[in-house]
Amino acid sequence: MNLTLSESTSLAKLIYDGVASSSELSDAGMVIGIAPDFVSLLSVKQVVSLPILVGSQNVFYEEKGAFTGETSLNMLLSVGCDFVIVGHSERRHIFYESDDVINKKIKVSSSRLKSILCVGETLPERKEEKTNEIIEKQILNNLHAFPIKNIHNLIVAYEPVWAIGTNITPTPKQAEDVHLLIRQILANMFSKPVASNIPIIYGGSVNANNVKSLLSMPNIDGALVGGASLKAGEFLEIIRTASLLCKKTGE
Ligand code: PGA
Repeated sequence: MNLTLSESTSLAKLIYDGVASSSELSDAGMVIGIAPDFVSLLSVKQVVSLPILVGSQNVFYEEKGAFTGETSLNMLLSVGCDFVIVGHSERRHIFYESDDVINKKIKVSSSRLKSILCVGETLPERKEEKTNEIIEKQILNNLHAFPIKNIHNLIVAYEPVWAIGTNITPTPKQAEDVHLLIRQILANMFSKPVASNIPIIYGGSVNANNVKSLLSMPNIDGALVGGASLKAGEFLEIIRTASLLCKKTGE
């Protein structure tokens, strides 16, 4: 909730122009997405095209009806939305979304769209060495009865709550340890080959300086960028760094 309609649209256009004008970036084989607020979604969708996808920051799980203030999957599809973020820590902590609500949302959104499920522990939980327990509980509850036929639409984002908007990041090794744990939990829930194909991305104070060391870890498949995506120049720098790593690993 940072920008107005015209600010979001201009920012998206700057990012799109930066990517489209460079074959290095547009042909790197990366998936790049922008997730503006609901008010700006349609307008942003109109100023960008592939390889940039446009996503929403939330969705409601009911199909339609008297749910004042909410936005359905069909409404998102009708403006050309390409992906959805579900269970962001602000949804969990400020808007009291429970594991059960997030479970309903991720099952609905992934039936039609790529869906990013965010999980992460708070600072007190990390200090009490409960990170693994919390992550496991969130994933098991949030993906309870997740239909395997939609698994190709699932992306998991590890976002330690204490790293979001704080300029504090885990070390790449600390982040990698949790990503590996997530991969193992997914392997137990589905299967090893299925889990190895689920992108697990990292979010929390990602910027142009730290993105390379994070993305260089074997189980960190991408980044979910908040504050640094509000500056076109820095976001493009992050995309550029990711594109160089893509070329090296062929991913
Ligand atoms: P940040 O935000 O990059 O500003 O820490 C991440 C997020 O909100 O998901």
